[in-house]
Amino acid sequence: MSALFNLHDYEQAARERLSQMAYEYYAGGAEDEMTLRENRAIYERFKLAPRMLRAVAERDASTTLLGQPLKAPLLIAPMAFMKMAHPEGELAVARAAAARGLGMIVSTMATYAFDEITAAAPGGLRWFQLYAFKDRGLTRALVENAEAAGHKAVALTVDMPVLGRREADLRNQFGLPEGVIIKNIANLLSADQQSKAGGVLAYRSSERNDNLSWEDIDWLRSITRMPVLVKGILRADDARLAVEHGVAGVIVSNHGGRQLDGAVSTLEALPAIADAVGDQVALLVDGGIRRGTDWLKAMALGAHAVLLGRPALWGLAVNGEAGVGHVLDLLLAEFDMALALCGCHDVSEITRDLIFGMT
Ligand SMILES: Cc1cc2nc3c(=O)[nH]c(=O)nc-3n(C[C@H](O)[C@H](O)[C@H](O)COP(=O)(O)O)c2cc1C
Repeated sequence: MSALFNLHDYEQAARERLSQMAYEYYAGGAEDEMTLRENRAIYERFKLAPRMLRAVAERDASTTLLGQPLKAPLLIAPMAFMKMAHPEGELAVARAAAARGLGMIVSTMATYAFDEITAAAPGGLRWFQLYAFKDRGLTRALVENAEAAGHKAVALTVDMPVLGRREADLRNQFGLPEGVIIKNIANLLSADQQSKAGGVLAYRSSERNDNLSWEDIDWLRSITRMPVLVKGILRADDARLAVEHGVAGVIVSNHGGRQLDGAVSTLEALPAIADAVGDQVALLVDGGIRRGTDWLKAMALGAHAVLLGRPALWGLAVNGEAGVGHVLDLLLAEFDMALALCGCHDVSEITRDLIFGMT
């Protein structure tokens, strides 16, 4: 593990440790993976125009999001099935994030129970990511359990009315390994429902609500005290509609290129959305962030914070909590260096004019 100097190194090391089925499930995107590639490629096209001679010896990346403090504007993105990467799964990720004052969004597809995750890292800032089910009773119970376990916001994922076509998973006949279950859903199902072949996994695709509309945001807001965010917005008019429906935040995301192939990259979609709603709600972005400079570019184009996806899984696969921690430390150090090299003392100084050609 001596040669792990950046997040790309972690992907290679994780690839060597994971089964082909698990690696390709985590790494892959939909169909031709155009959007997956574009999420990364766009970061090479936006160039930085750094400010000089700004006496940057003192720097502070801390911020607040929805009134909640963060040591730096980053949360771990919600990702399914973490136990497939490491036996400690979500527990290890929660501990690594909390130890650094960063946030974590716990997936509906988590493989540990809410209470177990809370017990592992009691002080950590966590939000809950919701996939809505056709059964509103089940959906509501999930949200209530998440709130009771201390989650401070709920992000409804809206970019998955149907599952994107991930051909690697079809080739590998993807299935959950023994002992990996969707814990918080399993806990709400009857023994009979659970015991049906592949019961819990089947629940995921066939029972997910493929008929969500803006009214469901109103419903979600009516059943919880947690602030509601929408995850998976790529257009300014949708962001405005989300604000009209009372959301507290918008997450610009294309699901890491795993849903609609050919969808716009998130960094490209971000500025128009920031112009439309950036001063009214918390604005986050994810997809392809692998370097501190990527993180800074996303903030310059209007994000208040970013989500880190796959690299957290690579750290987890390589070395559990310590691996996730090292991934986060590498990225935090790069972000701090990017602040210094761009002449910024804190995140409020990361403005759009730091992107070359933009004012
Ligand atoms: C393996 C994997 C599982 C994911 N599971 C979920 C999920 O359960 N819910 C969700 O809203 N997004 C899910 N996502 C999407 C991520 O939250 C996020 O949008 C995306 O991974 C960010 O891109 P990045 O991986 O390039 O950083 C998943 C992504 C991956 C790679």
